[in-house]
Amino acid sequence: MQLSKKHGPVMFIKLGFVPSVVVSSAEAAKEVLKTHDLCTCSRPVSDGTRILSYNYIDVGFSPYGVTGGRCERFAFLSSSVPRECSHLNMLEKKRLAGLHGRLERNFEEFDAFYEKVIDDHIKKGKDEAGPEDFIDVLLLEIERSQTEADDFQFTKDHIKAILMNIFIGGVDTGTTTMIWVMTELARHPRVMRKVQEEIRTCIGEKGKVSESDIEKLQYLRMVLKETYRLHPTGLLIREAMSEININGYVIHPKTLIQINVFAIGRDPTIWKNPEEFYPERFMDSHIDFTGQNFELLPFGAGRRGCPGMAMGLATVDLALANLLFHFDWKLPYNMKEEDISMEEAPGLVTCKKTPLLLLPVKYPLV
Ligand code: HEM
Repeated sequence: MQLSKKHGPVMFIKLGFVPSVVVSSAEAAKEVLKTHDLCTCSRPVSDGTRILSYNYIDVGFSPYGVTGGRCERFAFLSSSVPRECSHLNMLEKKRLAGLHGRLERNFEEFDAFYEKVIDDHIKKGKDEAGPEDFIDVLLLEIERSQTEADDFQFTKDHIKAILMNIFIGGVDTGTTTMIWVMTELARHPRVMRKVQEEIRTCIGEKGKVSESDIEKLQYLRMVLKETYRLHPTGLLIREAMSEININGYVIHPKTLIQINVFAIGRDPTIWKNPEEFYPERFMDSHIDFTGQNFELLPFGAGRRGCPGMAMGLATVDLALANLLFHFDWKLPYNMKEEDISMEEAPGLVTCKKTPLLLLPVKYPLV
């Protein structure tokens, strides 16, 4: 039984010495992430995150208010890092919109840039370039674009810390999302057929799905929302910075707050037949996952909401649409839909515990 059903939407629990509150309703989540956003936009500290983040000079793990906060670091990096080698300059939706075809070209450009780095190093008498050289080049580029008016001093560790955020926050989350989508589709052949029909009708003989096709794929978007409702991949953890009141309960400073997105996604007062995978529930619904609707929060919300949402969605949409366009997906011999395990593995990103095995059958292009 879900503990939130027994103990209610605001549950206090002590994790060792750490006072913690688990928030399991959309209303209480809104109070935390919107009404009290400024008082809850810190992250708890621990030895693990301190080491990973080079003493909190990153974006994702740093407590609120550490020198050169998130906005400065992201804005500065996105305007300074050479565009070939950073996804950061594509994080904002408005920038992304003006960069059609960017994702497809990005890897080619990255290769070309890396070739140039290697070339430069060979000219300087070195045999090969490693990751450290690459970071050196990034730093050089940043220094070049820094003006005297910029008082924020970027170091090599800043770059390493932010690249670590991109690896942890931006890679596993996307692949895990794709695995859960494919798992639910394999368990629900009706939905699989319907989404493939939408993609194939839209693409026709064009041969592959491009970024500009994605906004036409409305049913694919519903499938993604429904998957996030049942399988939110990212953890939503904050720390209270001052005393606040949530649902009538007083929360003290330094309390760890976890938003229980799993329970909210399965709350029967919000969702009809919550355990059922039924993407059509989003057909006439206003609920989106951009952080404005607290019933569905795969990217969080407020000041510490995911800055990579536009980038993450663009990547996941494009990869999924192409996988579903080019292949039919069959279960391995003798396996039935109900045999697919839905067990989750614990971690920063909620992955499927056992690998998903599917057989791809090439869709014949005429
Ligand atoms: C489909 C993919 C993604 C999902 C589901 C996801 C989910 C999340 C969630 C739930 C949070 C916590 C938000 C909060 O506390 O309110 C978060 C934060 C974050 N994400 Fe993502 N994310 C994705 C893609 C990305 C990408 C592509 C990047 C970067 C390239 C990224 C970088 C970050 C960073 C840096 C943070 C910390 C923000 C902060 O603490 O201020 N994420 N993400």
